[in-house]
Amino acid sequence: STTPVNVTVTGAAGQIGYALLFRIASGQLLGPDTPVKLRLLEIPQGVKAAVGIAMELDDCAFGLLAGIDIFDNPTDGFDGANVALLVGARPRTAGMERSDLLTANGGIFAPQGAAINAGAADDIRVLVVGNPANTNALVAAAHAPDVPAERFSAMTRLDHNRALHQLAKKAGADLSDVRRLTIWGNHSATQYPDIFHAEIAGRPAVEVVADQDWLESDFIPTVAKRGAAIIDARGASSAASAANAAIDHVHSWVNGTPEGDWTSAAIVSDGSYGVPAGLISSFPVTSTGGHWQIVPDLEIDAFSRDRIDASVAELIDERDAVSKLGLL
Ligand code: NAI
Repeated sequence: STTPVNVTVTGAAGQIGYALLFRIASGQLLGPDTPVKLRLLEIPQGVKAAVGIAMELDDCAFGLLAGIDIFDNPTDGFDGANVALLVGARPRTAGMERSDLLTANGGIFAPQGAAINAGAADDIRVLVVGNPANTNALVAAAHAPDVPAERFSAMTRLDHNRALHQLAKKAGADLSDVRRLTIWGNHSATQYPDIFHAEIAGRPAVEVVADQDWLESDFIPTVAKRGAAIIDARGASSAASAANAAIDHVHSWVNGTPEGDWTSAAIVSDGSYGVPAGLISSFPVTSTGGHWQIVPDLEIDAFSRDRIDASVAELIDERDAVSKLGLL
């Protein structure tokens, strides 16, 4: 269709925003036939930098970019939005307690959820990138009672992509031969990257790798702590890879996942795999027709069960904490 899709990006002037906006405008989010109108949402202090980014977007002369608007309030920022990428968040700073962090982010994601409820398009799809992503998504969804909960998701695709690379490298395989990896739980160090259902060129990944020690002492911690390793090396948190994962997530959601494979996304639980219904937790997911489905009926052994449960326990904790703060 030639009607532009309205894409709202919050935190547009941040480092992920800078890595994300040019790819959206070039057609990598929604495909080469879909024009986009960008709606950049920043806090007032971020507006000037967003204006500069808009100038650069103009200077790219992207044929698909049908317009750019800049806002400093969520009501206008989400008006008419079809896709919303919630990137801006309050980072944890030294000495900040977890409840302070959750309160500060509740102050961002509750009003954003309400603004989405009030003004977004009927087909709105929301991806929360800003941390703590799962719980921020839960708070936003709770303030958007008229939007189906399945339209809110949080990003574990970066973790998924990190795991794909680590597994392919270990196996000496092409990335395109690795399928059916899963990230379970929270986008945090408790996440569980699961290779027990994964395949490498059609063979069970655990048989190809045949190295339980690597799995436990290398793969799982490397994937789960990769964010910290990037900060250590780069002096700044993952930005281009996070933007890339956000593109992948929305692309999969809108255009579907390939036959015979799945991906990972944090979506609202229906109670599958012992994850309490209503939590936003990462699952193995497929997408068809613009809707995520949790991959059903996977066997979960005791090793995986313990790790899924530990990450889900952290999500329950975060949910209880925001609930106590009156944010749900
Ligand atoms: P950044 O600090 O460079 O940029 C954040 C931007 O958000 C700033 O420009 C700020 O002004 C803006 N902002 C803050 N509050 C806002 C609000 N209420 N409305 C609109 N804009 C607002 O941060 P960066 O590196 O771009 O990261 C953004 C978030 O993404 C962080 O929370 C980070 O932890 C998270 N992240 C998540 C990943 C994931 O895999 N889920 C991976 C990497 C980062």
